[in-house]
Amino acid sequence: MKKGFKHASAAALFIAAIIIVSAVSNRDAESESEGPAQPLFFSHKIHAGENQIPCEYCHSYVAVSAKPGIPSLQKCMGCHTHIPGKDEFYEDGAVKINFQSEINKLKGYWDKKTPIPWVKVHYVAEHARFKHKPHIRRGIDCSACHGQVENMHVVKRVHKIEMGWCVTCHEENAKDENELTRLKDCLTCHY
Ligand code: HEC
Ligand code: HEC
Ligand code: HEC
Ligand code: HEC
Ligand code: HEC
Repeated sequence: MKKGFKHASAAALFIAAIIIVSAVSNRDAESESEGPAQPLFFSHKIHAGENQIPCEYCHSYVAVSAKPGIPSLQKCMGCHTHIPGKDEFYEDGAVKINFQSEINKLKGYWDKKTPIPWVKVHYVAEHARFKHKPHIRRGIDCSACHGQVENMHVVKRVHKIEMGWCVTCHEENAKDENELTRLKDCLTCHY
């Protein structure tokens, strides 16, 4: 009885701590249906779709690290010193882009040696941990979590990043009972 009580109160403390942290760090304010406005119009549809540049070419660390990495100005300029872009409008539905004037903004950051202040689209609450590496190594496609990014001009979230989403997929994909236990363990995802 005493021992059980000790465990129960430890668990309650743990949960209470997470709830407090999560209440303080709720940054999920912007709309789900549209991505944020960025400092320059960078289209995934044009890069990853129409020009078929592989995701990993730009997000180089996705299979080896927690974070995929956002490409540096050097990487952009590796192509854009040779690709100035046409000074005419590209139109696709509601999207209208003058390639040259957007690429000139890129060159402006390059000349000033200031990184582009991209606005983040995805967040995981601070009390939870997510790493790309185990997911990519397991062969899970980017689209399982991010949707068809190659068809999006502006990246937007297609899944709300909440615990139920993570745990449901873990339950559906665990290889065996041992893995299921590990993938559902609170401490697998919480510090
Ligand atoms: C592997 C080569 C390559 C890399 C790397 C690359 N681009 Fe591009 N980019 C292109 C091509 C090809 C086009 C289409 C040009 C055309 O059709 O005239 C393009 C078009 C663009 C355009 C105009 C269309 C749009 O998306 O609005 C912008 C702006 C742009 N790139 C910015 C960037 C930025 C910022 C980076 C780095 C994060 C980058 N590019 C990295 C090849 C590249
Ligand atoms: C030419 C370089 C380039 C390629 C290719 C590229 N990306 Fe990106 N990606 C970027 C840049 C720059 C950003 C930051 C600006 C933005 O959010 O659009 C970004 C942002 C993202 C984000 C949002 C990050 C956040 O803030 O949460 C996701 C998700 C993403 N990319 C997935 C993909 C996937 C999946 C592919 C392949 C289908 C891909 N990217 C191909 C350059 C690239
Ligand atoms: C199992 C789900 C899952 C898969 C598969 C996945 N991602 Fe993510 N991705 C996430 C989550 C969750 C976040 C937000 C967490 C974070 O920022 O660390 C995220 C964030 C990102 C970011 C923003 C990182 C940053 O530093 O801001 C990029 C870029 C990205 N993913 C690209 C990719 C690419 C490219 C692939 C495929 C090679 C991929 N992701 C596969 C779930 C996934
Ligand atoms: C599309 C399915 C899917 C989604 C969504 C998903 N995961 Fe996973 N995750 C897996 C699979 C499958 C593994 C096992 C990978 C392996 O180790 O081979 C895994 C492994 C992990 C691991 C490593 C566990 C270990 O001990 O090796 C962590 C941590 C993790 N996921 C956290 C998360 C979090 C946090 C989220 C939500 C933000 C999430 N995952 C969303 C499928 C998913
Ligand atoms: C597969 C990963 C994963 C596992 C396993 C997991 N969590 Fe979570 N949990 C998360 C993520 C991600 C969030 C943040 C959701 C958000 O930002 O809204 C979260 C949020 C929470 C919250 C804050 C309230 C909420 O729903 O957002 C509590 C409390 C919590 N988890 C408790 C637990 C407990 C207790 C366990 C074990 C029984 C557990 N979690 C197991 C990923 C996980």
